[in-house]
Amino acid sequence: MQRDTRNYHPVSRLVHWISAFTIIGMFAVGWWMVDLSYYSEWYRTAPHWHKSVGILLALLTLFRVIWKKVKGSPEIEGKPLEVKAAKAAHHMMYLLLAVVFVSGYLISTADGRGIEVFTWFTVPGLGELFANQPDLAGTVHYYAALVLIVLAGVHALAALKHHFIDKDDTLRKMLGVSK
Ligand code: HEM
Ligand code: HEM
Repeated sequence: MQRDTRNYHPVSRLVHWISAFTIIGMFAVGWWMVDLSYYSEWYRTAPHWHKSVGILLALLTLFRVIWKKVKGSPEIEGKPLEVKAAKAAHHMMYLLLAVVFVSGYLISTADGRGIEVFTWFTVPGLGELFANQPDLAGTVHYYAALVLIVLAGVHALAALKHHFIDKDDTLRKMLGVSK
């Protein structure tokens, strides 16, 4: 059987779309949960879910980066400058994700407790590694998540521009329907 080198690998596509929906959901939940009152039934549940899903997403992203290194990905289409911008944006999104994961970990473990991922396993905590850790990590977490979402929005618009204006295969490659 001939290998499909035009489309992204099915595993890459699955991971891209699962990650995209999860990241948007994580942003919305994060934004909402920090204003919950102590008396809300979600006061404990929402952060527990946010952290559990966040750790699983971090593991999935680690797998994704290794998978990309091993399997590669199709050529990016467009003018040289567009290709450069797309590559920079993709790298930046991976970097911002890493910052969001590390800062999320640092907020959650400053009191020395580990992170319980649902009831499945616990990621050990390293305690307070620097002064004001929860506040500083919280600020970094907030701004990194914000920039990530804005960049992902620009990235999605760029994908739609390729599809509807340039009429190239960029979006089809990520949907697996490129000929
Ligand atoms: C793509 C992944 C993630 C996104 C988009 C995201 C987004 C957010 C956002 C927007 C907030 C609200 C910040 C604010 O308004 O101050 C937040 C809060 C928070 N996130 Fe995340 N987050 C992610 C992953 C994680 C992970 C992996 C952890 C921990 C392991 C985590 C732990 C927390 C905690 C503890 C808060 C509450 C911070 C506070 O009370 O100030 N997050 N997150
Ligand atoms: C939080 C949301 C999203 C994130 C973090 C994200 C991240 C990424 C990353 C890192 C890549 C590079 C893949 C690789 O390394 O091989 C990529 C590719 C791609 N994404 Fe997204 N994405 C998001 C949402 C979307 C949405 C909503 C669309 C469609 C409207 C989209 C369409 C694409 C397409 C078409 C490619 C292939 C680009 C090319 O080959 O030129 N993404 N995305």
